[in-house]
Amino acid sequence: MRSMGEKNIHPIQIEDLKIPNNLWLAPMAGFSNQALRVFTKSFGAGLAFTEMVSVEGLIRLNKKTLEYIHLEEEGMAVVQLFGKNEPKKFYQAAQILRERAGAKIVDINFGCPVRKVVHNEAGSYFLKVPQTMGDVIKALKDAGLMVSAKIRSGFDRINIEETIPVLSEAGADIITLHPRLAIQFYRGKADWELFRKAREMTKAVLIGSGDVESPEDAERLFADFGVDGVMIGRRAVGAPYIFSQILDYFTTGQYHSYSITEIKALMIKFAEVYVNLTHKDSIIPIRGSLIQYYKNVPHANPLRQAISSAKTIIDLKTILENF
Ligand SMILES: Cc1cc2nc3c(=O)[nH]c(=O)nc-3n(C[C@H](O)[C@H](O)[C@H](O)COP(=O)(O)O)c2cc1C
Repeated sequence: MRSMGEKNIHPIQIEDLKIPNNLWLAPMAGFSNQALRVFTKSFGAGLAFTEMVSVEGLIRLNKKTLEYIHLEEEGMAVVQLFGKNEPKKFYQAAQILRERAGAKIVDINFGCPVRKVVHNEAGSYFLKVPQTMGDVIKALKDAGLMVSAKIRSGFDRINIEETIPVLSEAGADIITLHPRLAIQFYRGKADWELFRKAREMTKAVLIGSGDVESPEDAERLFADFGVDGVMIGRRAVGAPYIFSQILDYFTTGQYHSYSITEIKALMIKFAEVYVNLTHKDSIIPIRGSLIQYYKNVPHANPLRQAISSAKTIIDLKTILENF
C-alpha cells in the first residue's frame, strides 16, 4: 500500500459542496458530452465539466445551447461558460443555470484559443486584460454560485503572476491552469513548473491540466508540483478507464492494462451510453471519440477509417468483429 496515495487522492470540499475526489474530466468542446461525463464517472472521475456553453446562447434560451446544460441523470457536473466581459450577462446566465440545471458551481473559460472566440473577446482574450476576469468572477459570486476559473499560462507571454491574483482576490474557489500559451494551442509540452509557481500565488483549489496520459504522470503531478487535483482531457476520450487506473495505482501500486478485446467492449459500451442518453440511433457525433480508443494501437489505421463510416452501434459491432 502506498501512503502517498491517501494524501493525494482525496475529496474536495468547498463550502457545502463535497466533490468525491480530485481526478476530474476536462471540458472539451466536441467531446465532453453527457455520455463521456457519465462514462468517465463510472470509472471514478470525481467531477466532469461540460463542453463550453455560450452565455449569449443561454440568456437567449437558445434551444441548442440549452441541450448542453442537460445534466439530469448524471449527478454533479460543472457547466463551463464562455462569453465576453459583460458581467450582467454572466449573472443572468448563472440564474438560468441555477434554475434549469440546479447548478451550485460554474466554470469560466478563460483559455479558449480559437480565433472566432478570441475575436469576440471571450476565452483566452481575457488573459490579455486580467483585471476584467475579476468582474466576471464577482458577477457569478453575486449570483450565489461557487466559481471555478480555467486559464492558460498567458495569451502570447506567461502572465500567471497577473491573472492568478485577480482570480483569487475576486473569490474564485477553484483555479485550473493549463500551462500552455493560447498561441500555442496544443503544441509543445505543458509547462508543469508553472503549477509550482501558481501554488504560491493562491489559496484557491488549484487543479493541473495538461498532458496527463498515465497514472505515473498523475503521481508526478501530485508529488512534485503541488496541485490539489488533476484534470484529464484528451487521454480520457480514448481511455476513460484512466481514472480507475489512477485510483488503483494510488491504492495498490498497480493498475490494469486493457486488452484489445476489452477496449472493443468498452467502445460498444460507450456507444450504448451515448445512444441511451440521446435517444437516437446515430453514433456519428461520437465517431471522433471512438477512434481515440485505438490511439496507441499500432497498424490501426484501417480500423479507424472503418469506424469513421459507422452510423449505428450495429455498424460499429460489425467493424470491431472484423478487425
Ligand atoms: C478538442 C479539445 C477541446 C477543448 N475544449 C475546451 C473547452 O471547451 N474549454 C476549456 O476550458 N478547455 C478546452 N480544452 C482544453 C482541455 O480542457 C485541457 O485543458 C487541455 O486539452 C490539456 O489537457 P489534456 O492534455 O489532458 O488534454 C479542449 C481541448 C481539446 C483537445
